[in-house]
Amino acid sequence: MDPGTLTHQQFVDFGTVINSRLGIKMPPSKQVMLQSRLQRRVRELGLASIHDYHTRFFSDEGAQEEELEHLLNLATTNKTDFFREPDHFHYLACRVLPAWLKDRPSPTLQVWCAGCSTGEEAYTLALTLLEQQERQDFQFDILATDVSTRVLHIAREAIYTEEQARPITPALKSRYLLRSTDPKARQVRMGPEVRQRVRFGHLNFLAESYGIPVTLDVIFFRNVMIYFDRDTQREVVSRMCRHLRVGGHLFIAHAETLQGMGLPLRSVGPSIYRHDPTAAQK
Ligand SMILES: C[S@@+](CC[C@H](N)C(=O)[O-])C[C@H]1O[C@@H](n2cnc3c(N)ncnc32)[C@H](O)[C@@H]1O
Repeated sequence: MDPGTLTHQQFVDFGTVINSRLGIKMPPSKQVMLQSRLQRRVRELGLASIHDYHTRFFSDEGAQEEELEHLLNLATTNKTDFFREPDHFHYLACRVLPAWLKDRPSPTLQVWCAGCSTGEEAYTLALTLLEQQERQDFQFDILATDVSTRVLHIAREAIYTEEQARPITPALKSRYLLRSTDPKARQVRMGPEVRQRVRFGHLNFLAESYGIPVTLDVIFFRNVMIYFDRDTQREVVSRMCRHLRVGGHLFIAHAETLQGMGLPLRSVGPSIYRHDPTAAQK
């Protein structure tokens, strides 16, 4: 057999681990994608085949625990962008923030970027709020989490290509981004003012407790749920609501829905909800 082939049974074995650890659905349509990602890992390890990797992964010698982090890293899809679904950042600046400033329910606006991937969404939140801070006096704090240690490393580095940074306006770029001293590198880095505003952390949405010590005003949970089955989606969002202040906002992606899940959330805009315990939403 071709050493690069992932058999159906091997796919089922890896898929079961991925699904039980991350909640990510593993339908047969993902076999080709998983195969190509495993081929890369097999090459990195200098193994001869996916078969050898499978044998090693499921051996009794503890290789499974050691290798688990790599498997989970390669199982996640991390596509993201700066100012992705931009109307949400506009809504945050023009609707959520003014309402929060009127009531000031806490000294600091607490924001959670849940499933932050390589950091673009969290830094977009920081840029949006920093821009507002130029006009208004308030404090904010952004917690950004992901289960993949690989993407968290990139997020903390905060270095992006000019192409990736294209959706950021020239005004924000010149105020808050650093340009590489080597023009050939065509890279930018989030400036210290932006980086200081975001704390990155490792968090698995399947964990019993999220260990978030503050009550959150805003949660961005976008383009993550889409990978989970409906029961997992409901469980995760229900757990998140425990950390969201009553009246606080939850943003999900336009391709996602919470319709019919009976959650304490009231729809207030496109893919935008407010925590309202009286609204067991139909
Ligand atoms: C497609 S990215 C979305 C990034 C960003 N929120 C956006 O909308 O651009 C999905 C992220 O969810 C993370 N993820 C998947 N399953 C997870 C889990 N069980 N716990 C925490 N993060 C998870 C992945 O590692 C990935 O970085």
